[in-house]
Amino acid sequence: MAVARAVSDGAATLFDHVRAAGDLGILLTQIAVAGKTIARELGRAVLIGQLGTTGETNVQGEKVKKLDLWANEVLVDALTDSGRVCTLVSEELAEPVHLEHRCADGSWVVCFDPVDGSSNLDVNGIVGTIFSIRRRSREARHAMVDAVAPGTVQVAAGYVMYGPATVLVLTLGDGVDAFTLDQTIGEFLRSHARIRIPARGRIYSVNEGNATKWDPAVRRYIDYLRASDGATDRPYSARYVGSLVADFHRTLLEGGIFLYPADTTAGGKPSGKLRLQYEGAPMAFVVEQAGGRASTGRDRIMDVRPSAAHQRVPLVIGSPEDVALAEDFMAGRR
Ligand code: AHG
Ligand code: MN
Ligand code: MN
Repeated sequence: MAVARAVSDGAATLFDHVRAAGDLGILLTQIAVAGKTIARELGRAVLIGQLGTTGETNVQGEKVKKLDLWANEVLVDALTDSGRVCTLVSEELAEPVHLEHRCADGSWVVCFDPVDGSSNLDVNGIVGTIFSIRRRSREARHAMVDAVAPGTVQVAAGYVMYGPATVLVLTLGDGVDAFTLDQTIGEFLRSHARIRIPARGRIYSVNEGNATKWDPAVRRYIDYLRASDGATDRPYSARYVGSLVADFHRTLLEGGIFLYPADTTAGGKPSGKLRLQYEGAPMAFVVEQAGGRASTGRDRIMDVRPSAAHQRVPLVIGSPEDVALAEDFMAGRR
């Protein structure tokens, strides 16, 4: 720890935290380098013509921002250069990338969202990178099996949040820690140790513009949160950044609930908008490791077995008491 003391008056570095994790540490160090690179580009994007769209539409049917593609290349390069990644599932790649020559036993599968909250990019809003790390399965058909696996197979997960500070939030399956980038030395230093989400919060986070598309039970739940009742500490406050990483990070630290419900209207998204493998599942792993809960509204997110790499899933995530109450409404028990 001598280096840590010299570097940061005693705060542990990310390296201190992951060095016991073997070659997973190599992978996480590469993700951290990618995060620092993306943070730097975000800080100057408007000055170098990096904002705006490419004119293309991705597999999600969404307009692709220049930084979506650029960040995707940064992460693909960083993960490939680690030498230990067999399969990549990226929001910005229509098909999983399978690096056959990197698929030794014990190699890794990484699902990631290069830039989460892209709609905030052109307005200097908060965005993030989300990652979910799994072991290559031992099956012969590992290329197929590994590209669609339930969240319970995750070994590590987290996100980098590009805000006033650049923060890397990480779980290795034994609690959740956050590391804040010290720009003066280019190191992520532990700023939050063993984060625990409050059992209940007073903030709800949902895009109310979609209210007419929700199941009536969801509308009843949101109306309940907005009703005034001192005895149950209501109404809640509403906060919505439009970036899962930002809305989740606030929920993780302050408590409360984030929802992206199913769109039940004809032609809508019956499984909601968010993708399971690189949005729902990694956030579910983190929140459960911090004492919270993540649900589709009925089922535990971590147990959902995807049938496709980009499968969407409704997401109800946050403080355990808040998620439990939302589930009571959505199951018709309230
Ligand atoms: P992405 O930018 O990776 O497509 O993710 C955007 C997601 C998520 O970050 C956010 O919670 C949600 O989209 C916001 O969607 P709406 O704008 O429909 O509310
Ligand atoms: Mn996203
Ligand atoms: Mn994205």
